This record gives sequence, C-alpha cells and structure tokens, in this order.
Amino acid sequence: MTLHSPIELSQSDPLIAAALADEKTRQQDQIELIASENIVSPGVLEALGHEMTNKTLEGYPGNRFHGGGQFVDVVEQAAIDRAKELFGAAYANVQPHSGVQANQAVFFTLVQPGDRILSLDLAAGGHLSHGAKPNLSGRWFDAHHYTVDRETGLMDYDAIEAQAKDVKPQLLIAGGSAYPRKIDFARMAEIAELVGARFLVDMAHYAGLVAAGVYPSPMSHADIVTCTTTKTLRGPRGGVILSRTDEFAKKLQSAIFPGVQGSLHSNVLAAKAVCLGEALRPDFKAYGRQVVANAKTLARTLTARDVKIVSGGTDTHMVLLDLSPQGLKGRDAEQALAAANITSNKNPVPFDVARPSDWSGLRLGVAAATTRGLKEAEMEVLATCIADLIEAAAAGDLEAAAPGAWAKVAQLCKDYPA
Ligand SMILES: Cc1ncc(COP(=O)(O)O)c(C=O)c1O
Repeated sequence: MTLHSPIELSQSDPLIAAALADEKTRQQDQIELIASENIVSPGVLEALGHEMTNKTLEGYPGNRFHGGGQFVDVVEQAAIDRAKELFGAAYANVQPHSGVQANQAVFFTLVQPGDRILSLDLAAGGHLSHGAKPNLSGRWFDAHHYTVDRETGLMDYDAIEAQAKDVKPQLLIAGGSAYPRKIDFARMAEIAELVGARFLVDMAHYAGLVAAGVYPSPMSHADIVTCTTTKTLRGPRGGVILSRTDEFAKKLQSAIFPGVQGSLHSNVLAAKAVCLGEALRPDFKAYGRQVVANAKTLARTLTARDVKIVSGGTDTHMVLLDLSPQGLKGRDAEQALAAANITSNKNPVPFDVARPSDWSGLRLGVAAATTRGLKEAEMEVLATCIADLIEAAAAGDLEAAAPGAWAKVAQLCKDYPA
C-alpha cells in the first residue's frame, strides 16, 4: 500500500490546488504594494518545497538532539556564515520562525518580566511585538513609547533622550513597520548608554536595504539586531538574530531553543541560506538602489498630486500616505486601489488614535514591484493611478477612475510578469 497518493494535488485535493493556482494568478495580475511583501526567487521556492521539510531537528549544527542532521547542518551553517558576512556580525542565529519570535528571544536574553522597555509608538510606525498592549511583550513588560515630531513626522532624538532619562528603560528599541526614514542608530545607542539600557534594533523592514548598502547599518551600534528574511531581504518567512559580538551568544542560543521554540524548520533554513546568498551578490545592491529610487519617485509623484506623505518623503521602500486632508479612511483608500488590482494596507498615521477601521493612513511599499522590474517611469504611472483613485474615492465616484487605472495596472502586470 502506498501511503501517499501518487496523483497530482489537483486530483487528490482540488480545493487546495485551486486556491494555490488562484493565489498564483492573483500575484501575477495585481501590483503588490504591501510593504512587508516581496517575490522570492525560484531558488528560495525550491528550497521551501524540498523534502528537507521532513527532517526534525533540535539544537544547533554539530550538536543535535536527533540523528540524520548532517545535511541540515550544512544548510544552517551556510545560512549563519552568510548572515554574518552580509551584515558584518560576529553572531547569527537563523532559526527564529518569525520576526516576533526573534524579538521574544531577545527579550528572554536581555530583560526580565516587569522591566521597562522604550520603543517607537505603534501609530508612529512601531511594531506590535515592541510592547503593544495586546502582545505578550505588552503584558510582560512595562512598555513606554516614544513618538515622532508632530510637524516633521521624524524621530526627535532630543525628545527621545528626555523621555529615556525619565523612564529609565532596561531596553531601548529602534525600528518598526511603518517608519519610512533613516534612523540615527548611533544617537539611539548613545541614549541607551546614557540611561544604562540595552539597545535592540529590529530592522525587519530595512534588512534588505542594509544588505544592499542603501540604508544605515545598525550592526556597530546595537547590542542585538533582529530582522525577518521576508520584506526587503526577499526571502522566506522567518527571522534572524544578529550581534556584533559573541557577548550574548550563549543566552540567545538557548533563548531560541529551548526558550521560545522547539524544532527548527529545516527547509526554511535552506531557503534562508539561498536568500542570504542572493543578497550577497552584487546585483542585490542594484536592486536595493532601485527600490529606494522607486519609492522616492512614488512619493514625489503623489506629492505633486497633493497627496500628503508622512514625513514628506521616504528613505526606504516605504511611503506612508495621510489621507485625512481628503477625508478618506485608509480602509477606503485600500479598497479604491484594490479596484484597480493594486494591493496595499491601511495603517495608522502618527498620533492616530482611531480604531483600525478608521485609521487615516495607507502604507505602500515597492520591494515586490521592484522585483518585477518596475522602475521610475512605471512608478510614475502607478502613482498617477493611485492619485486618480484616491481623488475619485474622495469624490465618491470611484467609477470615474477605476477602469482607467485597472487597464494601466493590467498592462504593467503583463509587461512585468511576477
Ligand atoms: C518591525 C517588525 N518586526 C517584526 C515583525 C514580525 O515579523 P513576523 O511577521 O515574521 O513575526 C514585523 C512584521 O511585519 C515588523 O515589521
């Protein structure tokens, strides 16, 4: 008796096969502007779909709790070595199943329940796992948040320093999911030192840009750096922990396993190694430069059409729109863009206290569109479509713009296959 059906998935499980096929078509037929997404290479996909997924292992290369791990050891060691080389780190742990788990392991290493942490406010672009109330980090730690300057939308380091002196956190965190500007990591490290805090940088969104040399590296400033391999790094879903020294190595190793995780995801480690190898190649630098050039073009073109951009522009892959002048909710704008097959997500803007359904922001990111080959000229087309859709939605007449924008997006998708 064969234990597996030898027939195609379309026959053995038509529901799932159809959903997979539909998802592939969806990705082909729409322009993805969700800032945390990208399009992975065939090599990354091959690794993800490999039989290595069958292998259960706990522990680290050369020191496993199960037999038969010699080839996963090769893969994990390659991922570690490549991560260290790419980011100039002395220590790398590539096992975190996600960015949140990477952060949890750092908390496990650097702070105790009840300790004070100071991080970027969620509405100003921070991340849930940095002490937001509904997250474990918000329950376990006394979380305080700094915000951005109300006028400029930029981090105000003097204000952060004053707040840090007041709060006296055990851990200072920089990084987030919707802060589109460069962060002065050296200044943040100074603030941490001044108040006796450890300093964590979560560069989940910026990692690919750091790898490409188009965004400042936090490596020499932070005690520990975390990131995801998704987003700008263009790899599989998962996290990485890095450090410039081995000071926390022992604690971080045991914080991941057995602290917050069990067995590793062997096939994902292979995909991480492939992605990190790709990011080490010279063409990844060109990709990173194009990502930033595209995002700047998007921001500039939208500004010229009177769309308000938080902080007035971008230094990254990300552009955050404030739709309050149009009287639009982010949710409405998201739906308006979806009518033309542009995918995006509603987001708070700084000082936004509304419920998620009423947030005034829309977050756009160009990492995936840049992977498709879109450059500045195509970004202008896309930005014009977005501005037309926003104007039409604000006037309550989406039909006035949707068909035209839909046709232009369809042409872009045809010209630049995913
Ligand atoms: C700054 C930041 N940290 C952590 C994460 C969480 O990553 P994951 O979804 O892999 O847990 C994200 C995800 O968007 C993020 O933006």
